[in-house]
Amino acid sequence: MDSTNPASARIPVIFDTDPGIDDALALALLARHPRFELLAVTTAFGNAPVETTTRNARGLTALYRQDIPVAAGAAGPLLDKRRRKDAAHVHGDDGLGGMAAGLPAPTRPLDPRPAHRLICDLVNARPGEITLVAVGPFTNLALALAHDPSIAGKVRRVIVMGGAFGLKGHGGNVTPVAEANIMADPEAADQVFTAPWPVTIVGLDVTQEAIMREADLDRLRGRGEGAGDLLWQATRHYQQFYDARDGIGGIYAHDASAAALLLVPEAFTLRAGPVRVVLEGIATGQTIQDWRNEHGTGTPWSGHPSQQVCVAVDAARVLALFDEIF
Ligand code: RIB
Ligand code: CA
Repeated sequence: MDSTNPASARIPVIFDTDPGIDDALALALLARHPRFELLAVTTAFGNAPVETTTRNARGLTALYRQDIPVAAGAAGPLLDKRRRKDAAHVHGDDGLGGMAAGLPAPTRPLDPRPAHRLICDLVNARPGEITLVAVGPFTNLALALAHDPSIAGKVRRVIVMGGAFGLKGHGGNVTPVAEANIMADPEAADQVFTAPWPVTIVGLDVTQEAIMREADLDRLRGRGEGAGDLLWQATRHYQQFYDARDGIGGIYAHDASAAALLLVPEAFTLRAGPVRVVLEGIATGQTIQDWRNEHGTGTPWSGHPSQQVCVAVDAARVLALFDEIF
């Protein structure tokens, strides 16, 4: 057994999220899979206003029987000029495809700390142990770095769902080159990618390959003491959107792919190199990795830490995880 992190050791995780239907599926993995020790959930704006995503996060943690802190975070991006409309057309006005009313009541009060403070407190209490999994705008992570820069050296790993690097023809989903979580707060994303902590970026290049089709979603029904049925019902709205737009006969497992990376790392192919975010002009929100490793000087990537970008995935391995939790 690996003395530092034996394969059987549970993985301590803080989940930063904007639930969000695919966020709810990711949270099911983090809450129900025995390999995870889910420590807390922190929320942000994104798929819906932060009040809505926070209500959803509290109801989902109750649905998954997790007695853990939930803290509300950013209501908007670092820069006011970046404010955009939310994604009600994708996730519904309640953020969960109309199913928020079916969530159980929260089992504990909302944590009084803002999300970024909870993140810093937990990371400082367990230096070197905690993985941050962030699947909404990265504003809370940027605020946490600003509040306590030392956490960059204490976090075990950062895994984010976001970005698009043009592989297999996958461009952006809110512009031809920009993905939603990045476009929601491009400054925060650039700060997260250039901070001195290890980031693995799970972008559309792999999440749009991890398609949960009708049959995969059907297998949720009748399982998980009601959780599977609520999730299945919530995905109806989400699937209608993707069927109309992309005709995929299912949904993209965007956020679940980020959680899956921790469970089946061998299903993902990674590429190393510093990553920057375009902050002006027509390509604002584009994520660009310099993997050439030419050690050029004076480029926008010079002097920034090399991060990991997912460039390929064995999607079946990701989707199979849901049969391990329900
Ligand atoms: O672009 C997909 C991402 O934006 C996912 O995290 C989805 O939940 C939305 O937040
Ligand atoms: Ca999300």
